[in-house]
Amino acid sequence: MKVLVVGSGGREHAIVMKLSQSPQIEKLFCAPGNGGISKYAHCFDVKVSDTEGMVALAKKLEADMVVVAPEEPLANGLVDSLNAVGIKTFGPNKAAAIIEGSKVFSKDLMKKYHIPTAKYEVFDNVDDAIAYLQSENTYPIVIKADGLALGKGVIIAQDFKEAKKAVTSMIEEGAFGESGRNVVIEEFMTGPEVTVLAFTDGKTIVPMMSSMDHKRAYDNDAGPNTGGMGAIAPNPYYNEGLEKECMKKIFLPTIRAMEAEGRTFKGCLYFGLMLTPSGPRVIEYNCRFGDPEAQVVLSMLESDLLTIFDAVFNEKLDSIKIKWRVGASACIIMASGGYPKAYETGKEIIGLDAKGQVSNSFVFHAGTTFSGGKFTTAGGRVLGVTAWGGSLDAALKTAYSSVKNIKFEDMHYRSDIGRK
Ligand code: AMP
Ligand code: GLY
Repeated sequence: MKVLVVGSGGREHAIVMKLSQSPQIEKLFCAPGNGGISKYAHCFDVKVSDTEGMVALAKKLEADMVVVAPEEPLANGLVDSLNAVGIKTFGPNKAAAIIEGSKVFSKDLMKKYHIPTAKYEVFDNVDDAIAYLQSENTYPIVIKADGLALGKGVIIAQDFKEAKKAVTSMIEEGAFGESGRNVVIEEFMTGPEVTVLAFTDGKTIVPMMSSMDHKRAYDNDAGPNTGGMGAIAPNPYYNEGLEKECMKKIFLPTIRAMEAEGRTFKGCLYFGLMLTPSGPRVIEYNCRFGDPEAQVVLSMLESDLLTIFDAVFNEKLDSIKIKWRVGASACIIMASGGYPKAYETGKEIIGLDAKGQVSNSFVFHAGTTFSGGKFTTAGGRVLGVTAWGGSLDAALKTAYSSVKNIKFEDMHYRSDIGRK
């Protein structure tokens, strides 16, 4: 099969890497891709937001399947456009991608179908929002802008003043765009966070190995939120009992709810869960693989990824068995100085040659370019140094020893991934 992967980050590198191991792959393409991906797949300079351009590229390449990895093209309906011209896809259509695209939609879905989540109300009027804050009067309280906001539309307000400022900037000033003028105010939950990615064809849902993201920029969960500074799999707080409970109360009810709403979800459904004192609850859904969760989870996948993608598209997920490696994996993100705020790019990266390779590890590229025989930085998150082993400790040790071989100016990474 000829397969085109849409996207350009570490997650896409992990997907490309795993697909490259499939004996069914004849040719692998990626758009736009990055420096590391270009070693495994022919990359084309088409933006993920350019739906027409991407469909034209898939047709030109005679792609048998297109894997749409990031949320933006999924929310734009790239899958629908590809299916309309007869090209197979992996990823939800536009109607189903709303589960990530609108927090108001996903909260209302959970309420309607009794899926456990934080208690909430929705507002598009500042006075009503403030009156609600005053009547609740418990802090912290969580304020979320509707719409895709690259993980930035969530504010955990510590007091009334902060909460009022957040709702005012979202509703009155449109700080997160037009859709962000709709605001969810929800109860603050506590407990360990778990990511569960799941393959689903709309009828069957198969959870992957669990994982844990590390969202804050610095050690000890200090500093601003990022796209994710590291991940481990499996998540040490999760177990078989919890998986059974989540299957019954969250995973199956969610895909059935989506089907009942006429929005059958096919692809990878991301459950951001919190293990609260009163049981697991949903923090958020994403309509795609997580990044950097995909790097650790796909590193543990033993089965052929293309066979799974095919089974999802053909609604035959119940007919295959998905196997996982024994042990654990860890990913350390190496980021540009300043990230998640302003940062410089174009720094040469040293240590990505054969000499820097450590066995049982792989360096996924997130923001790099390759030209003139060298790799340079091209984004905030630059590399995802990933390793696996018989235990979490072994995986972490290998990952950090691989990190030590790599250098670029002003780089920063967390030294406490997996330590909590
Ligand atoms: P989200 O973009 O919805 O995943 O939110 C980003 C992060 O904010 C989550 O990973 C949590 O750490 C935190 N968060 C979101 N909602 C809540 C909540 N209701 N209670 C506590 N923390 C939350
Ligand atoms: N790592 C969090 C996400 O992919 O949304």
